Order: sequence, then structure tokens, then C-alpha cells
Amino acid sequence: MPSYQLTVNGRVRTVDVDADTPLLWVLRDTLGLTGTKFGCGQGVCGSCTVHLDGQAVKSCQTPIKDAAGHAVLTVEGLSKDGSHPVQKAWIAEDVAQCGYCQPGMIMTAAALLKRKAHPTDADIDDAFADHVCRCGTYPRVRSAVKRAAGGAK
Ligand code: FES
Ligand code: FES
Repeated sequence: MPSYQLTVNGRVRTVDVDADTPLLWVLRDTLGLTGTKFGCGQGVCGSCTVHLDGQAVKSCQTPIKDAAGHAVLTVEGLSKDGSHPVQKAWIAEDVAQCGYCQPGMIMTAAALLKRKAHPTDADIDDAFADHVCRCGTYPRVRSAVKRAAGGAK
């Protein structure tokens, strides 16, 4: 079985898995980082979103061979103590209901705010267009992104 090296939450990791193994399963099953969730496995729900070199990607659609040599950030690596501005805004806005989709939402929000400090409603809608929340938290997600950006709700 081939061996792949990647950086996960700042730590160099080596994994022995098939080339086409989705990054999602490497994170969850090989590395035990279960914060990243499996929703659809088809790239349409966003629950598996992580950062790859700072960009939000769907880990279910990212084979390990493409992630090798790159830096992955998962929700566990966003902060040690929940102090990332997005995490704080999520708590302040009480965004989560069941919570299942939320790690992916939070990672997309963090990536969005990195590339655009003060996103418009259209920017937010665009960034979250392929996220599905069965609990319908979309309005609170929008408020939390704005709060994290330091703008009006
Ligand atoms: S599990 Fe990856 S997009 Fe749904
Ligand atoms: S909070 Fe339940 S699916 Fe989004």
C-alpha cells in the first residue's frame, strides 16, 4: 500500500492508504479526527469541508494522492480552545441545532473570511451555496459570519 505524507493541523502525518482513498476517511478513520463529518459522500452537502492550503475543499471529493504534500486544516485545528473568531461568533449567534453540518459550515466561514474580510450577503450565499443544513440554520450562519467579520448582523 502506498505511503503519503501531509500536514494536518500543523503536524506532519504519514498514512498508508490506497491512492484514491478520500481525505475524509483518512482524517476520520486513519487519524481519528472525527470532527469532519460524512454527509453525502458526493460533494453536495459540504459537511466534510476542510481547508487544503487555506482553501475550503470537500474532503469526500479529495483523494489522498491530491492532498499529499499539502497542508490540511480541520475543525479541530482551527483553535485549541474555541477562540477563533468564527467559533466565537457561532456560539454568540447560537447557530448550531443538531450540529452535524456545523464543522463544515465553520470551515467554509473561516476560509471565506480569510479571503474576504467583510463579505456581502451575496458573498456569503455564494460561499455556502453547496452546504446543506437539515435544521435550516442558514439565517444564523449569515449573522454569525457577519459577526465574525466585525460587521453588523
Ligand atoms: S460528505 Fe462531502 S460534500 Fe457531502
Ligand atoms: S445544524 Fe442540524 S444539519 Fe445543520
